[in-house]
Amino acid sequence: MDKVQNKNIILIGFMGSGKTSIGKKLSEISNYQFFDTDHIIETREKDIISNIFQSKGEEYFRQLETDLLRNLKSSLNCSILSTGGGLPLREENAKLLKELGFVVYLKASQETILERLKGDTTRPLLQGEDYETRISLLHKKREPFYENAATSTITTDHRSLDEITMQIWDLYQTYRV
Ligand code: S3P
Repeated sequence: MDKVQNKNIILIGFMGSGKTSIGKKLSEISNYQFFDTDHIIETREKDIISNIFQSKGEEYFRQLETDLLRNLKSSLNCSILSTGGGLPLREENAKLLKELGFVVYLKASQETILERLKGDTTRPLLQGEDYETRISLLHKKREPFYENAATSTITTDHRSLDEITMQIWDLYQTYRV
């Protein structure tokens, strides 16, 4: 496994895989600052993700994600970055993520994700009919992209937040420069 060049931990994974909760916990134990790509985009655009999707389209949002990663390359240090679930799919983004730091894929089973996302109304890709089929297809399609973009994969099913957080922190100590 490659040594990481930058002092950042990047969390990737499907919607509902725990990126935000684990990211905040990691930030507490490390004293690194916590950032979230969706949150930065919403602040910059002065609008929420579902409205951005609706008014400007998904491609517009995806370009904002890539532009943001290019920006962060020169500014992010000693930070935890939680990323939107679709961000690692672009090849350029996957490359940029590895340049930013230690990339952890939070792997969760379809069952866990379905349980966690039940009743969610904030994620545009999950709205409409056939909710379970939609998740199942997306999940299957995306897994290889997450694996490819990650420095390390951590399984999260049936594990506590503290346990997962400590495992990531320990791994990061091993692999950082
Ligand atoms: C998306 C995931 C969302 C958000 C947007 C699109 C996706 O972030 O970026 O709704 O394509 O999986 P979370 O993974 O934080 O829910």
